[in-house]
Amino acid sequence: MKKELMIPVIACFVILPGLSFGQTAKKKNVIAAKTASSAKIIAATTAEISEGKALVMQSDCMACHKIDTKLVGPAYNNVAKKYPATAANYEELADKIIKGGSGVWGPIPMAPHASLSADDAKKMVRYILSLH
Ligand code: HEC
Repeated sequence: MKKELMIPVIACFVILPGLSFGQTAKKKNVIAAKTASSAKIIAATTAEISEGKALVMQSDCMACHKIDTKLVGPAYNNVAKKYPATAANYEELADKIIKGGSGVWGPIPMAPHASLSADDAKKMVRYILSLH
């Protein structure tokens, strides 16, 4: 092979895999960072908790839930014991409040709350998960 050709050929073998390795490593870091942030405990502020509490009291929640005893739905302090206050749990429980569903605490379904915004549902979850 001619000398002038060797350089680009070597460059292809050395630099290209190096570049793509760098990109994979970067991607992995992003995924790791995302996982870490969704698993991190996020302590709610007192203001967020009282806002969430007001929303829970205004809605129909207390018709089926009590703070410390099971009614139709699980006691809120048991919900708080089950779920650490992570971003992932805020998302998941807010989604469950909006869409409704069953099977986690028993066969009785929670009614959906379709008119609730994701933001308000998350505030409610902040309040509930502070009750342990
Ligand atoms: C009609 C009765 C009813 C109403 C009204 C109700 N819930 Fe529930 N809720 C339930 C039941 C039943 C469950 C258990 C569902 C299950 O086992 O998956 C539940 C579960 C939950 C859970 C735990 C979900 C899980 O997957 O672990 C949260 C949080 C919750 N409710 C919050 C609320 C909030 C906030 C409101 C008011 C916006 C509300 N609920 C209104 C009956 C109700």
